[in-house]
Amino acid sequence: MSSMVATLELLCFCTVFTLSYVVLAFAEDDHNKQFIYHGFDRADLHLDGDANVHRNGLLQLTNNVELQQGHAFYAFPFKFDKSSSSGQSLAFSTSFVFAMVSESVNVSGHGIAFVISQSLDFSEASPGSYLGLFNISNNGLSRNHVFAVELDTVQNSDYKDIDGNHVGIDVNSLISIESASAAYFSDTDGKNESLELASGKPIQVWIDYSGKEKLLNVTLAPITMRKPNRPLLSTPLDLSQVLSDSIYVGFSASTGRRTSRHYILGWSFNENGHAKTLNFSMLPSLPPISPANQTAGQEPGLIAIVLVVAVVVLLVTIGVAVYIVRKKKYKEVYEDWEREYGPHRISYKNLYKATKGFKEKELIGEGGFGKVYRGVLPDSNEQIAIKRVSHDSGKGTKQFVAEILSTGRLRHRNLVQLQGYCRRKGELLLVYDYMPNGSLDKVLYSDIGLNLNWFQRIQILRGVASGLYYLHEEWEQVILHRDVKPANVLLDADLNGKLGDFGLARPYDHGSNLQTSKLVGTVGYLAPELFRTGKATTCTDVFAFGAFMLEVACGRRPMEPGKVDLVDWVIECWKKGYILDAIDPRLGGLFAEEQMELVLKLGLFCSHPNPAARPSMRRVMQYLDGDAKFQDTSPDSTVIAAFSATIEESNLMMPFSSLYSNSFVNTMSATDSILVEGR
Ligand SMILES: *[C@@H]1O[C@H](CO)[C@@H](O)[C@H](O)[C@H]1NC(C)=O
Ligand SMILES: *[C@@H]1O[C@H](CO)[C@@H](O)[C@H](O)[C@H]1NC(C)=O
Ligand SMILES: *[C@@H]1O[C@H](CO)[C@@H](O)[C@H](O)[C@H]1NC(C)=O
Ligand SMILES: *[C@@H]1O[C@H](CO)[C@@H](O)[C@H](O)[C@H]1NC(C)=O
Ligand SMILES: *[C@@H]1O[C@H](CO)[C@@H](O)[C@H](O)[C@H]1NC(C)=O
Ligand SMILES: *[C@@H]1O[C@H](CO)[C@@H](O)[C@H](O)[C@H]1NC(C)=O
Repeated sequence: MSSMVATLELLCFCTVFTLSYVVLAFAEDDHNKQFIYHGFDRADLHLDGDANVHRNGLLQLTNNVELQQGHAFYAFPFKFDKSSSSGQSLAFSTSFVFAMVSESVNVSGHGIAFVISQSLDFSEASPGSYLGLFNISNNGLSRNHVFAVELDTVQNSDYKDIDGNHVGIDVNSLISIESASAAYFSDTDGKNESLELASGKPIQVWIDYSGKEKLLNVTLAPITMRKPNRPLLSTPLDLSQVLSDSIYVGFSASTGRRTSRHYILGWSFNENGHAKTLNFSMLPSLPPISPANQTAGQEPGLIAIVLVVAVVVLLVTIGVAVYIVRKKKYKEVYEDWEREYGPHRISYKNLYKATKGFKEKELIGEGGFGKVYRGVLPDSNEQIAIKRVSHDSGKGTKQFVAEILSTGRLRHRNLVQLQGYCRRKGELLLVYDYMPNGSLDKVLYSDIGLNLNWFQRIQILRGVASGLYYLHEEWEQVILHRDVKPANVLLDADLNGKLGDFGLARPYDHGSNLQTSKLVGTVGYLAPELFRTGKATTCTDVFAFGAFMLEVACGRRPMEPGKVDLVDWVIECWKKGYILDAIDPRLGGLFAEEQMELVLKLGLFCSHPNPAARPSMRRVMQYLDGDAKFQDTSPDSTVIAAFSATIEESNLMMPFSSLYSNSFVNTMSATDSILVEGR
């Protein structure tokens, strides 16, 4: 009896003890029995992987990065005695609000799971379809002691997933013991409404387990709704067979190839009884939609179109502006009558490029008619000289331009070849062969280290004479040069003299009365009759050539301030009996005497005041080549007599004397051509 009593007593004691122990245990952990978090800024959480808590309390498990996982567990374990009467002690209830935000619904992955586990260590778990819960080798093993409710957004046939938007109940395995497409029962409509788990909108989940009933209910609803009367899943389950007696509760989420941002906004848990209801207005808000999302969706199309249109409009505007500016920059003048010279036309753009925009550096000369630039034609790499001649766009323009251009057809080895031209408003651009040794004027007078010997000088004189003869007699029309002087004689690489600028020195602005309207030429090379008649002839060209000959032989300009005129000087020397005193001392006495005498006397002869007494260019050529004998060898001959007479006579003429006065010469560069109004 007593032993029975004792046994009973023991039993009672044991029961009481056990009960009191359980009560005591829960009393001890009372603060652990339940919790509610609206945001997790002060929550006792154990985080791993990519899980983190935002400043506003929002719990983020993954961050839209591939093959990522994150865990967030309540930091303290819950203990229960599985062996106690039918494991009734386990009767939890929880509710939480989650959101899955992804670039696009159909690429969201993989999902979130509410987890009850014996351990906080998920370091061996895999992301992707393993949901950060298991790995390939432990999936399905009962020693995992893991229970999970998965919110799965990717269908995986390995785990018999029913679709890509389902809720499943997992026991130690990713193959759910039961699952259903995400939906909720609408109490008002009395029917199931489907839910998009990855819609980006917050969704609330309730999970209720009764150890007594061995029943697990899972219920979903949009955040604004009360808990529906009917759960989505109501599954018979004995968790005491699954779990160990110390459990952790929390969440796991993972991404795979498909990614998403997985968030938990609030969580209420009660280890034994109803979990408190979450107050939605206290939940943290989700981050604003990322700009990436905005540009990737539907509006993006519109934005892209607007952007493209804007860019196109901008480009077109810039293009048109550039086109207009360029068109203006390279604008040319072209008239119908120029068609004849079409083949000689060179575009301004090419000339602009050839001279690098008419850079100062490319400037090689500047004379009475404009500036001369050196250039290299972009297409042919040919060296050219470009003369920019400005002209008034008056009536005579056409004739002037046409005359110049017609000289482009002249071909002679002692004429500088006109290659082409271009016309712009008030401007004519003439393109010539480039003469590497520049003008004879520079060689004679500026110290450029090139001292011409007698042979070279006589070559130049012969060449220029031949060129001038061609203009006067060999061409179909008589062409007057009007400005023969060293500055207009250019030297090629072999120091051959070439006559340039023919036809340029031409009065062109007056219509019919061209010949007498203006005096054209350069002081010192102007025949005396020009001042009377103003009329240029081949004889006036010969006069200039005479001055040129004397200049080349003597190395002195026809007229220099403070010095006796060259012609007078040569005559003086001749009268004194030794004409060779007049020659250029730089020759160092190295010359052919006979030839030199011929040049000096021929020079004087050409400078004869009486035009009729001057030889023709044909004759000059013959003398120079020795084909004709120059007979006038006495200083007292008619030539000299005529000179003295004319000089006195010419002194009586106003224009002549004023031009020859020193003050006038001083104000002019001796190489500059002049245009003087005639009468
Ligand atoms: C997502 O996929 C489903 C089925 O494949 C399709 O009906 C739906 O239009 C897709 N949604 C988007 C936003 O692409
Ligand atoms: C899977 O996880 C278990 C621990 O849960 C670990 O022992 C095992 O090595 C892991 N296997 C792989 C393949 O990672
Ligand atoms: C609603 O869905 C649940 C679970 O999938 C199902 O058992 C129930 O029959 C459905 N109810 C209606 C009205 O369709
Ligand atoms: C689960 O849902 C069923 C049906 O609505 C209900 O009878 C039962 O009480 C629920 N159990 C829990 C633990 O909420
Ligand atoms: C929810 O929270 C707001 C402010 O935090 C409060 O005003 C409101 O009464 C709360 N609602 C409930 C049902 O507790
Ligand atoms: C991202 O863009 C898609 C398409 O526009 C949209 O459906 C989705 O709701 C957006 N995500 C969020 C978080 O707003």
